[in-house]
This record gives sequence, C-alpha cells and structure tokens, in this order.
Amino acid sequence: MPEDFVVTPWEVRGQIDYDRLVTQFGTQRITDALRSRIQRRAGELHPMLRRGVFYSHRDMDWILDEHEKGNPFALYTGRGPSSGVHIGHMLPWFFTKWLQDKFGATLYFQITDDEKYLFKDFEELDEATRVGYDNALDIIAMGFDSKRTRIFLDTEFIHHLYPIAVEAAKRITFSTTQAVFGFDNSNNIGEIFYTSIQAVPAFLPSVQAGHDVPVLIPCGIDQDPHFRIARDVAPKLGYPKPALIHNKLLPSLLGPEAKMSASAPASSIFTTDSIPEAKTKIMDAFTGGRATVEEQRRLGANPYICSIFAQYKFIFESDDAKLAEIEGTCKSGERLCGDCKAELWDSVERFLRRHHEAREKAKDRLEEFLLRD
Ligand code: TRP
Repeated sequence: MPEDFVVTPWEVRGQIDYDRLVTQFGTQRITDALRSRIQRRAGELHPMLRRGVFYSHRDMDWILDEHEKGNPFALYTGRGPSSGVHIGHMLPWFFTKWLQDKFGATLYFQITDDEKYLFKDFEELDEATRVGYDNALDIIAMGFDSKRTRIFLDTEFIHHLYPIAVEAAKRITFSTTQAVFGFDNSNNIGEIFYTSIQAVPAFLPSVQAGHDVPVLIPCGIDQDPHFRIARDVAPKLGYPKPALIHNKLLPSLLGPEAKMSASAPASSIFTTDSIPEAKTKIMDAFTGGRATVEEQRRLGANPYICSIFAQYKFIFESDDAKLAEIEGTCKSGERLCGDCKAELWDSVERFLRRHHEAREKAKDRLEEFLLRD
C-alpha cells in the first residue's frame, strides 16, 4: 500500500484517508442507526455528528446501553501541552462540552506535560509544566462545569496516577509498543512507558468510585493507538474497556497537505492570537478559489479543498441550511473567496473576543478545576 499519509499520536502527515484509517485501526464507523440512538438520548444531534466530523468509535453502543440502564458514564480527554492551544485542538473539546451538558457526565481532563518533555518538545520539564498550566486556562475557558470537571497535570497528580500506571505497565510489553507505535531501541524508556500513563484516566473513575464506571473518550483519531492498548489491558486489571468516539482533524489554514502546528503559526488560529493577527490568518488562508474573479464567476470554486469552508463545516456554522448555502454558492461561482473569508471572520472574531475574556477570568478559577496530589 502506498504510504501517502501517516497518522500516529506524534505525527500527522499528508492527505489523510479517514476511511482507510478506520480499517487500519480496526474501529467502527458511526452509522445512521447509532446517530439516531445518540439523538434520542441527547435530545438533539451535535453538528459534528451530523456532518461526520466525529465519524468513528469503539463501543459507543455500550455507553448508550449503560446510560439507558441508569449507569452514568464519565468522560475522559486530554491535551499534550506542546505549545499554545489552537482551534484544531479545541475541536474535540467543543464536542466534549456538549456531551457533558447533554449527559451530565463528569469529565477527567489529562494534561500530559511528561509526554511533551519525553517526546522532546522541551529541553526542560518545568517548561512543559508551565505550558500545561497555561493550556488549562483554555480548557476552563471552554465553559466546562466546574462541579463536574477535573483537570490534572501528570507531574502534579502523579501520586494518584502512578499505582494505576504501574498495574497497566506490567501488562504492556516493549514488543507491543514497537508494533503499535513503531518504537525501537533508540527510544528513551520514558517514551516506552508513557502509554501506561495515558491509560490511567480511563480507569481512574472506577478506582475513585470503587465500582465499574463506563468511560467515553472523545479524541482525534490519531490518539486511538494508545487506547487500543488501554482496552487490551483493561480486563486484565478488572476494569471495563473505555469506549471511544473519534474526530477527523481540522484542516490547516495553509491547505490540505499542510500540518497545523505552532511552528507554522499561520496554519491555525491560536487562542492567544491578537485580533489583527487572527484576521490576517483568515484573510490569507488557502481556498478552493480560481485564479481570477472572472474564472470563478464562470466555473465556480471548490469548497472540498478549501480551508475556509472546513472552518465553517467543522466549527463555525452550526446551521445546516446556511452551510448548504455556502457550499452551493461557492460551487456556482456566486460567492467569492474574499467575501466568504470576511463572513467567516465575523464569527471567528466574536468567538476569539469571548474566549480571550473567558481565558482571563479562568486565571482566578484554576483551583476550582485542578486535581493535585
Ligand atoms: N497525547 C495527547 C496529545 O498529545 C494528550 C492526551 C492525553 C489525550 N490523554 C488524552 C488526548 C485523552 C485525547 C484523549 O495531545
């Protein structure tokens, strides 16, 4: 098979074939039947479900079965604090908040400062921890319910995490990590151990409650390999296997092949971007437009490769009729890219101003959310 794209927890490259990933990883596609079931339980369907942004899962049916039986589930997601937070990182968080609101679920939010140090994003561990605390502000600013949300940094909560990590680590061989992550003899032993730390919050709700608690993990499909391992060890430790619901990754503002990262600031809107910085990024973004206005009027443009259309579809336009109108007028040539960007910018600006404010307020609220040893 040609290696035209790569998706691992640490590297995402090329034009991703999301259907092929479902086969490669052995996950299930979200079917219409499952969507209807979620809709019945939640009372509505989140746009990211309607549009296939969240498109794959493991054991989501079981989560709904348990919920129907009156057995509430916990949510678990996380953030690797390699840099500031951008909109692509927040994509699963919007959805997680929706799940928390609709199902009244307790959310465990892991910040993996250890991971980002071990995998060489930082020279000094305390630098990763500092970025982790800073990222926690963005998480709080999302509006999660403080009574039901527990945020923790690995290095600050390790006393609680370690016993469970050790139990998991004993049942994961080096050869499993080689097969799943492609590790070899040159990987440091912290990298090899790390997956057992990311497994812990899948079991923590059961440990804390003293009985089995179903756990649902909303995350980018790139994180699935960790949880394939966590699911394998779960029964050996006497915990239920965590369920997963996976999202596609938000395309970069620089085009379908470009990656979104802090090393290419123009690739995404970061939460700490100033208003003029963010506006420039939107106005300079890659589109599916034609070389000239005349051509575009005559031939129409291509929304399916356009980073601006992706922003509408994944996050900023929740109304399906309006999204269809954007798509239709783009393809017919009625809509020009400059206007389309300006229109999107209105929504992004509103979002960013609100987030800046909430992020400032979060500085006084950290202790309401943080778990520490
Ligand atoms: N490894 C993830 C990252 O680099 C962080 C993470 C930890 C995570 N636990 C998680 C992501 C659970 C999703 C779900 O971003």
